[in-house]
Formats: sequence, structure tokens, C-alpha cells
Amino acid sequence: MTKFQERVFSGVQPTGTLHLGNYLGAIKNFVELQNKYNCVYCVVDQHAITVDQDPKELRSNILEVLASFIAAGVDYKKQIIFQQSSVPAHSQLAWVFNCVSRIGWLNRMTQFKDKAGKNKENVSVGLMVYPNLMAADILAYLATHVPVGDDQKQHLELSRDIAQKFNNDFGVEFFPQPEPLIYGSATRVMSLRDGSKKMSKSDPSDFSRILLTDDDDTITAKIKKAKSDSELIPGSKEELQSKPECLNLINILSATTNQSVDQVLSHYAGKEYSSLKKDLADSLVQVISPIRGEINNLLNNQDELNVILAEGTEKAAAIANPIIEEVYKIVGFK
Ligand code: TYM
Repeated sequence: MTKFQERVFSGVQPTGTLHLGNYLGAIKNFVELQNKYNCVYCVVDQHAITVDQDPKELRSNILEVLASFIAAGVDYKKQIIFQQSSVPAHSQLAWVFNCVSRIGWLNRMTQFKDKAGKNKENVSVGLMVYPNLMAADILAYLATHVPVGDDQKQHLELSRDIAQKFNNDFGVEFFPQPEPLIYGSATRVMSLRDGSKKMSKSDPSDFSRILLTDDDDTITAKIKKAKSDSELIPGSKEELQSKPECLNLINILSATTNQSVDQVLSHYAGKEYSSLKKDLADSLVQVISPIRGEINNLLNNQDELNVILAEGTEKAAAIANPIIEEVYKIVGFK
């Protein structure tokens, strides 16, 4: 038994239109979890500016992510959805965590190494300390469960280390150890052009990803063009290991039809890719087309989206502010 009340927290960056990886790896689970938990879902705009953003685009991306949450089924009346920069508790706690977290820990973050590449000396400081802000996002709500895709696993481990070190340093049992919730058949959706790279907003090829705003013909065309090979679909998971592009298509179909990977595999074993691709395109159209329609409806009424954000901010601040007060007392500010 833990003394902490269960609460879910997660965030999505407003850095462009959301793709199938964001949906299957995270947002689909956000929707399911709201039946069981109190949930706080955040548009993490402060994370977005760790790399250059055009201010006008950033504002419209914030509203688009909010609209995508709602269109996918997040219930903004029962749960909390809001924008990170509107609740100062995130930056306040992030500063405290900058002083708890260790440079050696951040140096091990593989996502920083990937993003900074050879440019390590010239990227923003924010990009490096971003996992401390992520820990602050979660722990400002004493959240116990964090649904994310597989690529955030290491950042979640760091959040746990920061919570533990804070508790040890100050001799308290104040922060919980947030548990990652990484589940489903599509915890790591890969690029449709290269099965060794994850699907991402930053890939130069539009054909590498399916967007939540793609129309039906575009979805079908992207799946048709997805990389495959000239052999038949194998019958076992072992054989699939050497065919990452095929594995990716099977995983996606498993996630969109709520069948197990084994069920999907046994259906397509020995068949041509064309039959898998046709069914996959149909299934994706079924999932994405209502979401796309709803995103467009919501974006046509931006005043309403702004009201939803303002209400979410109020509810989020009501939880986070007293927690920051406590933290300030623990560290000796008050
Ligand atoms: P972000 O904005 O890059 O991605 C949002 C969510 O989508 C998941 N995801 C994927 N899942 C499966 N396959 C993929 N190809 C794929 N690409 C992205 C991510 O794992 C994520 O769950 N640092 C986070 C945002 C964040 C956050 C937080 C998350 C900030 N503070 C606190 C949880 C808790 C990020 O950049 O996600």
C-alpha cells in the first residue's frame, strides 16, 4: 500500500500535427485510463521551445494538440486538460529539480544524445535539462502513473531517481515513485519507410508517418507505399524479428483492431503484403477519420478551445499550487 492517491499525468508536445505513434503509443491509452483514474493531460509547450519554434505556429499547434486530445476521446469535463506554461508550478518545481538532478544522469539520456547529435555544444541548455522539467510536470501533481510510448521510458526512470533523491536529501517521503504505463501492441510505432527508425514528427519524409489529420486517400496511399519486401508474410514472431517493417504493420493492425499480435499474424501468415496493407488501410481509416473530423470541428471554434484551456488551468493549478507550497517549505524557502 502506498500513501499516495493514484493519479495519472501525461504530456504531449505541440510541435506539429500528431501522428499515429502519438495516438497508439499514448493518447489511446489516455482515453482508456480515464475510466479508472483521475487524469491530468498537458500540452507541454515549455518543452517545445527547447528547440526553435515559430511563435504563431506554436500557438496554433497548442490548440491543435488540445483538439486532438478531445477528438480522440479525452473527457475534458471529468478530467483535466491544460497548457503547461499557464501553471507556473511546473517551472518552479523544475528549478528545484535542476538542483537535485545530476549532470551525470542527464548525460546518459539517449534522446538528448540523438537530438543533439554532433551539435552538443550548440544546442539549448533547455534541451539538456528537459527531463528535469518532465519530472516536475509529473511530480507537481504527485502523479503515480504515467502513460507514455516506449521512447519516454528512460525519462521516466530519471523522474523516479529525482523523486527518490529529493526524498532522501530532505529526509521526507513527499514524492511518489511514478510508474510508467507503457502498454498495447504499438508502444513503439516505427517509420513506414524504415523499420529501424521510430515514427516521428521530424522525419523529412511525409510518407514515413500517418497524421491524425490525413484524409482517407492519403492514409491509403501511405500504407500502400509503406516499405515491405517481395516475400510472403512469415508465420512466426521469430521470423518477424528480421523483418522490422512487416512487424510494424502487424503491430499497428493489432493495436487498431484490438486483436493480439498472434491473432493478426496467424491470419496473414503465408499471404501477400497487399492483403495486409489493404486491411490495415481500411482499419486506419476507420480509426482516424472520425478523429480527423472532430479535430477540424473543434479548430473551427477556437473561442471554445480557449475556454476549455482556461478551465483546465484553474483545475490544474488548484492541485499543483499547494504541492509547490509544501516543496518550498521542505527546501527552506518558507
Ligand atoms: P512527445 O510529444 O514526443 O510524444 C507524445 C507521446 O507520444 C509517444 N510517442 C510514441 N509512441 C509510440 N510510437 C512512436 N513512434 C511515438 N512517438 C511518440 C511518446 O512516448 C509520448 O508518450 N517528453 C514527452 C512529453 C512530456 C511528458 C511529460 C510525458 C513532457 N512532460 C510528463 C509524460 C509525462 C515528449 O516529448 O513526448
